[in-house]
Amino acid sequence: MEQRSAAPVFAQPEIRLITSAKGGVGKSTVCANLGAALALRGKRVLLVDCDVANRCLDLMLGLQDRAIFGIRDIMSGDISAADAVYACPALPNLHLIPGSRFDEEAPDPAQALPALIKEAALGDYDHIFIDTPGGMHSILAAAAGCVSEALIVSSAQTTAIRSAQAAAALVAQHGTPSQRLIINQFMAADAFMPRHAKRRSILRFPDRRSPKKRQNDASVTLVETVDTLGLSLLGVIPFDASLWDAQNKGLLLCDPALADTFFAKAHRNIAARLCHFSVPLFADR
Ligand SMILES: Nc1ncnc2c1ncn2[C@@H]1O[C@H](COP(=O)(O)OP(=O)(O)O)[C@@H](O)[C@H]1O
Ligand SMILES: [Mg+2]
Repeated sequence: MEQRSAAPVFAQPEIRLITSAKGGVGKSTVCANLGAALALRGKRVLLVDCDVANRCLDLMLGLQDRAIFGIRDIMSGDISAADAVYACPALPNLHLIPGSRFDEEAPDPAQALPALIKEAALGDYDHIFIDTPGGMHSILAAAAGCVSEALIVSSAQTTAIRSAQAAAALVAQHGTPSQRLIINQFMAADAFMPRHAKRRSILRFPDRRSPKKRQNDASVTLVETVDTLGLSLLGVIPFDASLWDAQNKGLLLCDPALADTFFAKAHRNIAARLCHFSVPLFADR
């Protein structure tokens, strides 16, 4: 059962950055599906794809045939932010400002981002998520000063953890007041089973393992990941092989192909926490 915790005071809408310095850790996947999970709770959600060279959220939301304008058109002053907002066909409460295609000639749009976010925030949204490209991009620094929180996405892999650390330091330096961690692509789907014994096995501390087991086990545990990053943990999303096919078809967690997966459950749990409900880390719902 969900228990409401004390809601921190945020200006409405709640604007969050979804980031890491590394590509491929699932920032855009989490952005699209967390947006979908909140839309399913009746929230009005706007996703802003800040990938000005390599957009992808239009594909993930099944909007590739409709998304004519993108973030670069707004930044160049050709249209207003509202003119480039598209509603997701599967979830009318979920909206997108698409990213843009690569254009070598185009100027760095980072300076225009704060004005765009400010304008988007005037729309009637409960949640806005800014999806950033990988790398320590100027876009990341520009967005960091305009959001109430950064959601740092990392897998439990040493390379991803280092990049998450770098992104967390950069956004803090540029004024993001709060940061929380989402561990994605976690390789222990059975951690979501309610049986206590299974759950305990992934929460083990390295010291408790026998030296032989430790030597043979190169995996980074959940606890080690959280401990290294020193961020408060918002959720853990398992690796789900069925995502490959589903994403190719432009499906989100609301589709029957994904709705019963632990991938979908993890996003629903995170969405509940963003609505200030307290739910167990591995709630199976
Ligand atoms: N939890 C997950 N389980 C399985 N595959 C995932 C998961 N999250 C992301 N992926 C896959 O990882 C790849 C990179 O995801 P993407 O969201 O584009 O990452 P990023 O935005 O960080 O570059 C995609 O092929 C996506 O389908
Ligand atoms: Mg991405």
